[in-house]
Amino acid sequence: MSDLYKKYDVNVPRYTSYPTIVDWNNCANEQKWMNHVKDSEQLDLYIHIPFCNKLCWYCACNREVTKDQKKIDKYTSYLLKEIDQYSIKDHKIGNIHFGGGTPNALSVQNFHNILNSFNKKDFSISVEIDPRVISEQKIEAYSLYNVKHLSFGIQDFDIDVQNAINRYQPFELVQNIYNQVREKIDCDINFDLVYGLPKQNLESIQYTLDKVQELSPDTIALYSYAHMPKIFSAQKLINEQELLVGKDKRHLYDMAKKRLLEIGYVEIGLDHFVKKETKLYEAFKTNQLKRSFMGYTHLKSDTLVGIGVSSISESKNFYFQNTKDIDSYYKRLNNHESLFVKNHEMSEDDITRKFFINDLMCNLSVKQNRALALDDNKKIDEFISDKILENDEDNFIVKESGKPFLRNIASVFDRYRANTPEGFSRI
Ligand SMILES: C[S@@+](CC[C@H](N)C(=O)[O-])C[C@H]1O[C@@H](n2cnc3c(N)ncnc32)[C@H](O)[C@@H]1O
Ligand code: SF4
Repeated sequence: MSDLYKKYDVNVPRYTSYPTIVDWNNCANEQKWMNHVKDSEQLDLYIHIPFCNKLCWYCACNREVTKDQKKIDKYTSYLLKEIDQYSIKDHKIGNIHFGGGTPNALSVQNFHNILNSFNKKDFSISVEIDPRVISEQKIEAYSLYNVKHLSFGIQDFDIDVQNAINRYQPFELVQNIYNQVREKIDCDINFDLVYGLPKQNLESIQYTLDKVQELSPDTIALYSYAHMPKIFSAQKLINEQELLVGKDKRHLYDMAKKRLLEIGYVEIGLDHFVKKETKLYEAFKTNQLKRSFMGYTHLKSDTLVGIGVSSISESKNFYFQNTKDIDSYYKRLNNHESLFVKNHEMSEDDITRKFFINDLMCNLSVKQNRALALDDNKKIDEFISDKILENDEDNFIVKESGKPFLRNIASVFDRYRANTPEGFSRI
């Protein structure tokens, strides 16, 4: 196994989209997209809130540090303008996901204003929250709306690790917020954890999992720390001497996985663990699981509209990404200019491969289609001889020992990976 970790520890996309952003062709027609949204029967929304109270050094998200409520109010007023541009007030909305940054940086009033832009309010809501900055009043507000999913940014409970990433977050603080949410809101709770952070070791991971077990969230995302200081400059503050890499890093995951399985979680797809009573588990069991920019989901309308800086919109035929820069976002909205800085119009081949890769990433098995594999199936045969993939008459099936290499396996069906550019995190 150690040799395989070495062999497959290369830079490969995470496949939250196919094609990956770096491969987008920027040929999509904006008017066609706007018309598509207007004509859609049901939509999901992703709303990006790029503000955080404090800078976490490991962070790879699009965010800026501010405590200035006026700035957040101004941004909210521009979100309303963007929603208005789409003319979707009367549309049926399936789910609204607030991502960040820190969505709970929005005041209760900001939150109401956004939700009040829609006339049909039977949508579900999911929110990523930073437990360090949430008030009782905001939890009350979430309980008044149909919040069905709250994701807590935890990362690690060990104090030495927290100091090494500039994210001080005592267990008691999280416990207090967790209990309030459980008492007031009927929703699934997810914990985001990250392995491979500075100062982490097998002991600290066990400690973090003791605390996770004590609280018992419904689902857990256990992300691999993506260290790319050239792209995310705050990561330059991380002491690289304190990072485990390669197989040592993977052992952290293996140990956490063993513990999570022991205490009743099931591993689904890539780096996600769920309790058997959850909708995600049901979706996994019935091959209904889907993957999007927000991770794994059991809910997904055919069209996702991304609102706010850096947000991505998606449908069967298109991807569009908004500008990442707040000043440019304001200027473009004021001048009625396009917000999009990147886009992609899907070819038939892209659509086929997108569904194929999605199946693989979600179900760990996919109808065999050797015609889609690059390099005359040489890699596929190698995966089979490395005992990480098997095939029966109809399907490719990722073996238990192949789960760490799911992204490597998917990349063989990625037409654009023939000339892999830099910029992806290592496996
Ligand atoms: C938008 S944040 C979650 C909400 C909130 N901002 C917070 O941190 O509490 C999304 C998640 O991305 C993950 N993340 C951020 N930077 C990462 C990195 N460099 N590698 C892996 N995961 C990362 C963290 O687990 C984080 O909770
Ligand atoms: S991890 Fe969350 S709170 Fe920390 S800087 Fe990133 S987005 Fe902000």
